Amino acid sequence: MKYRELGESGIQVSLICLGTMTWGEQNTREEALAQMDYALEHGVNFWDAAEMYPVPPRKETQGDTERCIGDWLKRTGRRHDVVLATKVTGRSDRSWIRDVRETRVNRAQIIAAIHGSLKRLNTDYIDLYQIHWPDRRLGLWGEAGASYVHKQTADETPILEAMETMTELVNSGKVRCIGVSNETPWGVSQYLEASKQGCQRIVSVQNSYSLLNRVYEHGLSEYAFREGIGLLAYSPLAMGSLSGKYIGGRTPAGSRKALFPNFLTRYESEQAKECIVQYARLAESHSLHPADMALAFVNSRPFVTSNIIGATNPDQLKQNIDSVDLTLSDELETAIQAIHLRCKHPAAA
Ligand SMILES: NC(=O)c1ccc[n+]([C@@H]2O[C@H](COP(=O)([O-])OP(=O)(O)OC[C@H]3O[C@@H](n4cnc5c(N)ncnc54)[C@H](OP(=O)(O)O)[C@@H]3O)[C@@H](O)[C@H]2O)c1
Repeated sequence: MKYRELGESGIQVSLICLGTMTWGEQNTREEALAQMDYALEHGVNFWDAAEMYPVPPRKETQGDTERCIGDWLKRTGRRHDVVLATKVTGRSDRSWIRDVRETRVNRAQIIAAIHGSLKRLNTDYIDLYQIHWPDRRLGLWGEAGASYVHKQTADETPILEAMETMTELVNSGKVRCIGVSNETPWGVSQYLEASKQGCQRIVSVQNSYSLLNRVYEHGLSEYAFREGIGLLAYSPLAMGSLSGKYIGGRTPAGSRKALFPNFLTRYESEQAKECIVQYARLAESHSLHPADMALAFVNSRPFVTSNIIGATNPDQLKQNIDSVDLTLSDELETAIQAIHLRCKHPAAA
């Protein structure tokens, strides 16, 4: 395994981060426990959860992913071997997450959220506490493509309020460092402004990043890199699409597309489908599995701190962790760039 520093926190995290959002829905508790055992045995010390998980989010299962991790920690006692990340839910109408009309990123709700997470996780501290998505209204998860659509909300919680609360959590020892997710350059600039007013500095941005979605490279990559903030790249396989398994309209039984078809629509435009075929052909012409090339691409970007994989079976988990040892040749890099230039934003989320 390779390790990189989480922002400027001094914490070393594995280049592969264990994604967890399938645990408690697509994966059972036993499968989750086995994934944690295998990942740690293979050097993956960084795990990413959220109070809202598993997905798709449901009242009946909410918190079960964190409960799986809590069970593992209780069983193994290996809390200090793991860098544990979780998230407070952004603004939403999922009133069942807390007993509120809307989940909001304000002081009261951040405090309620962390108490719930600490309890479910069976721990008294979280290494990286992240804001899952902002309190201000943004077009997220492909809703607006790569475009910015301004949505006026007079009642946005000030970023400073969220940051002061997160800072209190750090000062009280409940959290070691803080990060954001699904953010824009403007959002990141506001979090950095707050740190000039005595708040903790964020160490990471967790955004979607893959061969099909390179929006992060436009603005955030240089900005965050120069500010010592790392990208935690999620959906590196575009939810499995970049493995090539859906090419030609196939829908393997038990796959995410078969189970939750709405999840993948952002990767199903004609342009995205064409792009997936081109990347798959390119990988195969270099004797690589398409998933390996897609993961190696993310692993090798200098602004990526960790690549958050999502596996639903042991073979996928092994393959995805092993991607850390792959190197893309200069020829392959050039060919990837040529496809990218022809098809810049096939999917944006
Ligand atoms: N901050 C956020 O808003 C946000 C959003 C999304 C994800 N995340 C984080 O990022 C993690 C990973 O996201 P993701 O699950 O979307 O990542 P992904 O790697 O793009 O997609 C994972 C899915 O692809 C399939 N897959 C994985 N490895 C494969 C392989 N080697 N060959 C073929 N298919 C493979 C699996 O689906 P099937 O077996 O089901 O087909 C798996 O569920 C999550 O667990 C979560 O921690 C964060």
